[in-house]
Amino acid sequence: MALIAISAAATFHLSVLSATQEPDTLLRPADLESTLRMARPSPNLEKGHETMRKMKFKFPRMVFPMSIVRANAVTPDDLYHSGSSVVLSPTDSMIYHWRTNSSWPQCYLTGWVSPAEELVAGHKSYMSEGDVTAIEIWNVSAPADRKALKTMSWNTRPARISLLGTVNFTSRATQSRLGYLDAQELKAPTPRFDCLGDTEITVEVACAACRLEFEQIFSMPPLGFELMQLA
Ligand SMILES: *[C@@H]1O[C@H](CO)[C@@H](O)[C@H](O)[C@H]1NC(C)=O
Ligand SMILES: *[C@@H]1O[C@H](CO)[C@@H](O)[C@H](O)[C@H]1NC(C)=O
Ligand SMILES: *[C@@H]1O[C@H](CO)[C@@H](O)[C@H](O)[C@H]1NC(C)=O
Repeated sequence: MALIAISAAATFHLSVLSATQEPDTLLRPADLESTLRMARPSPNLEKGHETMRKMKFKFPRMVFPMSIVRANAVTPDDLYHSGSSVVLSPTDSMIYHWRTNSSWPQCYLTGWVSPAEELVAGHKSYMSEGDVTAIEIWNVSAPADRKALKTMSWNTRPARISLLGTVNFTSRATQSRLGYLDAQELKAPTPRFDCLGDTEITVEVACAACRLEFEQIFSMPPLGFELMQLA
């Protein structure tokens, strides 16, 4: 049986930023602006930010995945190991697993594409073909043995349970400048779910009409599929 090491990446579970460190890095003014559905330019925006800071409003915390494993239908018995390489295509899915243990009670999953200039500065990039605006996030059955989440083949991947939602894998900065997407911002890409205390979630990320390739690395600026935890 062929053993394909995507890369022997260390897996870790850390919050990229906590709310008290650099809140503005994760939620940009433009994100806020569209979330709050204000007319632009808004004379109240600065005041709003000031109020949020005064009230010690907590920005969402981003949780990096514990494992990222490819499942390839073309070679269905080949084993892939958890690593940083993400490949999505009509015949490639990625199985993501997150674990969190926090007093923040709610979570959702999203695709996070930092602005192009930040990606360039951070030596990050992605290759995409086709329609990447509706990448599917499926809840899958978590195997009892966690080791099964670190190495798997297409034939041993966990079974789909339900479609949680779809994510638009394009620049967040661009999305928040488009007025017609404002209503979309009111709704998280996947529904919020309870994640108070020790919580694990395993999903299949799939795309029937696109090809997407990138490295999901634990560093700024964020690029990839992320668990967001809310205070
Ligand atoms: C989760 O965090 C709580 C509080 O810090 C701790 O008591 C508990 O042992 C942790 N659980 C796990 C499984 O790490
Ligand atoms: C995913 O499915 C499991 C098993 O049915 C369920 O316990 C869990 O709540 C689901 N997660 C979400 C976010 O819907
Ligand atoms: C996805 O975001 C892009 C901007 O980056 C926007 O043009 C497009 O309409 C969005 N698609 C959907 C389905 O929301």
